[in-house]
Amino acid sequence: MERIAICPGSFDPVTIGHLDIITRASKLFDQVIVLVSKNMMKQHKCFTPQERKELIACVIADLPNVSVDIFDGLLADYVREAGAIAIVKGLRAVSDFEYEFQMALANRKLYAGAETVFLTTTAENMYLSSSVVKQIAAFGGDISHFIPSEILDVITKRLVKEKLS
Ligand code: PNS
Repeated sequence: MERIAICPGSFDPVTIGHLDIITRASKLFDQVIVLVSKNMMKQHKCFTPQERKELIACVIADLPNVSVDIFDGLLADYVREAGAIAIVKGLRAVSDFEYEFQMALANRKLYAGAETVFLTTTAENMYLSSSVVKQIAAFGGDISHFIPSEILDVITKRLVKEKLS
């Protein structure tokens, strides 16, 4: 039986921190589905779900067992439908823990057939988040250290445009 894992997130936009977690998950599972999902707590979005999916598709192109999908509903429902055995999330600092722990417990209550697996970020990516990238870009800073090179141009242009509008 194929061991499928789901890597869910907002990915607005995908960063090298996300890509590191996805790449490491691809070595642990037969198949990884990166899932662009809705975080009700994050209201303002820069990229549409379809754009986020396309950006992710670009950066996972050389990972043969990784695919990307969009889902607007409950993560637990998608996980069940996909027959996945794990939800993989990156864990940065203590500040992530309480929220992630709460989600993991809620997801288990909704569907006990999958485990939430936390991969600790690398020390370099400890502080990195999509919000940090958006802020740096908005103030004209260099985001090349945080965004995969294949999508750097398109993201930089969009974030600058976003600031001007
Ligand atoms: O990258 P994020 O914003 O930390 O990811 C959070 C996300 C999108 C994975 C989470 O909000 C989620 O699972 N959304 C889907 C809806 C859902 O199942 N919510 C209940 C989780 S307990």
